[in-house]
Amino acid sequence: MKNIVVLTGAGMSAESGIATFRDSGGLWAQYRVEDVATPEGFRRNPQLVLDFYNKRRRESLSAKPNEGHLGLAEMEKEYNVQIITQNVDNLHEKAGSSSVIHLHGELMKARSSINANKIYLLDSDNPDIKIDDVCEDGSPLRPHIVWFGEAVPLMEKAEEMVRQADALVVIGTSLNVYPAAGLINYVHDGTPIYIIDPNEVAVSRGKINFIRKGASEGVVELKRLLKEEFNKKSKV
Ligand code: OAD
Repeated sequence: MKNIVVLTGAGMSAESGIATFRDSGGLWAQYRVEDVATPEGFRRNPQLVLDFYNKRRRESLSAKPNEGHLGLAEMEKEYNVQIITQNVDNLHEKAGSSSVIHLHGELMKARSSINANKIYLLDSDNPDIKIDDVCEDGSPLRPHIVWFGEAVPLMEKAEEMVRQADALVVIGTSLNVYPAAGLINYVHDGTPIYIIDPNEVAVSRGKINFIRKGASEGVVELKRLLKEEFNKKSKV
């Protein structure tokens, strides 16, 4: 089976009702990154940060996967599909995708604020992290989110996945945030790259197949293009 590696961002979940970051009216127009997505912000005002992620966690709990998520899960019948997501929601898993890594953490998990390896699954019936919740090591519990300025522990694994790709698909990310945005540079020369996004995405790499559509429609088009690509190669 061909290896299809899919890098997703906030636009993947837009049709499920979850706001993106940098589109007009997106999250970063309403909040300052420094306040809610940095370790310094958490030290300065933990309540603000907890409220921000508690709200997002509740939104994501009630969200449903869209046709794009479902289409990617269905592609597992024909391909080995590996998803690398920057999203902290669990909509790929809800859609049934079996291989998903979360570069920027997961909303449904909390962790110790002094030990990144002490991670806990939150209860969906009682999902908020409260200001006086502490971990067994006595430190305050914090969201299991990779904040700006922090290392991205799954990067090496993601790079290796991209190196092994027979096709790379990028869906709903403005490719503004590194190191995730740099993953596109790990594909081997000649490996087809598809970008699904209704808006223009600036990339400085050779040949890219742009699918200027939203995630749901875009994944339908992607399936057609992948068939074409791999049939063409098997005839040569
Ligand atoms: P952005 O908000 O930067 O980009 C979202 C992309 O989705 C844009 O290119 C949109 O054009 C596109 N988009 C909008 N609607 C879409 C749809 N229906 N279908 C497909 N694409 C659509 O979000 P990310 O690139 O994911 O990190 O942002 C990367 C990181 O920056 C996030 O993981 C987050 C943020 O700060 C942290 O919080 C650490």
